Amino acid sequence: MAVTLELAQVSKIFQKDRDLVRAVDAVSLSVLAGEMVTFLGPSGCGKTTTLRMVAGFEIPSAGTISIAGEDVTNVPVNRRDIGFVFQNYALFPHMSVFENVAYGLRVKGLSEADIRMKVGDGLELVGLGKAEGRFPNQLSGGEQQRVALARVLVLEPRVLLMDEPLSNLDAKLRIHMRTEIRRIQKHLGVTCLYVTHDQGEALTMSDRIMVMNRGRVEQVGTPFEIYSDPATLFVADFIGQANVVPARVEAVNEGTLALSIGGRVVDVRAVKGGSFTRGDGAALVVRPENLTLQDEGEDAPFTGTVRTRTFLGGRMEYEIAIASGRTILVFDPYRPGKRTWSEGETVSAAFDASVAVALPDREGMSS
Ligand SMILES: Nc1ncnc2c1ncn2[C@@H]1O[C@H](COP(=O)(O)OP(=O)(O)O)[C@@H](O)[C@H]1O
Ligand SMILES: [Mg+2]
Repeated sequence: MAVTLELAQVSKIFQKDRDLVRAVDAVSLSVLAGEMVTFLGPSGCGKTTTLRMVAGFEIPSAGTISIAGEDVTNVPVNRRDIGFVFQNYALFPHMSVFENVAYGLRVKGLSEADIRMKVGDGLELVGLGKAEGRFPNQLSGGEQQRVALARVLVLEPRVLLMDEPLSNLDAKLRIHMRTEIRRIQKHLGVTCLYVTHDQGEALTMSDRIMVMNRGRVEQVGTPFEIYSDPATLFVADFIGQANVVPARVEAVNEGTLALSIGGRVVDVRAVKGGSFTRGDGAALVVRPENLTLQDEGEDAPFTGTVRTRTFLGGRMEYEIAIASGRTILVFDPYRPGKRTWSEGETVSAAFDASVAVALPDREGMSS
């Protein structure tokens, strides 16, 4: 069943030895019915704590959590009707796959016939229809995680919570399971919160991503928004790769900003919510794949010396030393016969206004 979920100014303070740790700091988020939202951020940024508060394993120090309009902030775990999938599967080793998935249904007192039907459907859904007689130690890591997922899904939780469920799997299986979990979540239309520190996972699986840093929300948006309109330098740097160059605002125009970088003036796209005035310091953000190389050109925003050139099959990666001791990274799609530049050569890089943005220079780069 798909329901809405609301976090309003939720904080959690832990006592750690003599210190107080603000693990989660005024997090607000509205999740739509049937939506999949991932919490993305570095280790220790508060993802798990936020998820555990939604589940009811932790009680917020401040703020409220509501599910389908009902305030559940102080409702115990077992009355929240929530499914939680853990990183370590937590299967019962002495029970068959069937009994593992049936466990919660037995606790609920369902009839044997209903249990048989629901377990069958659940295992079918995760692609393990033929494995019900096996035991956890006869399953691969990926299969165990599917059983863990089926066990939660047969209970038809109002909200599905998953905390780094794929991190114990090898890289190839992880990529396969991303699409599997997403397919199942969409098929059931279940509202889902998913924790990961893996940006690839977040970009491929989410309707929206909540990027967290030091207990706070940096940005909430669709994968496209997060990638192309990062709200902060933290987001620009954490998701994908970004060149960040100090600049100064020369003019504020309709839809664009004119920035001066190293004596040249370039236009960039004005991001919604960004407010600049002439003379402000700013950080120019442009992704490596959005720079195009050319032989040394008078008007190009960047000119420098190729420091390293790495051939990756589909693309050439260049590190280019520009003025002021900075290095920019450029990804140049490769095809046979295309002009390439060698280490030591001088090269220029340019970009379209539409693919570059300016962010407030909170780190004082340009001063
Ligand atoms: N039970 C606890 N007691 C004290 N500190 C905790 C506890 N749980 C988490 N923390 C601290 O809260 C911060 C956020 O942790 P966590 O939510 O686990 O981050 P993440 O899941 O993003 O890696 C960390 O500094 C962590 O050490
Ligand atoms: Mg965690």
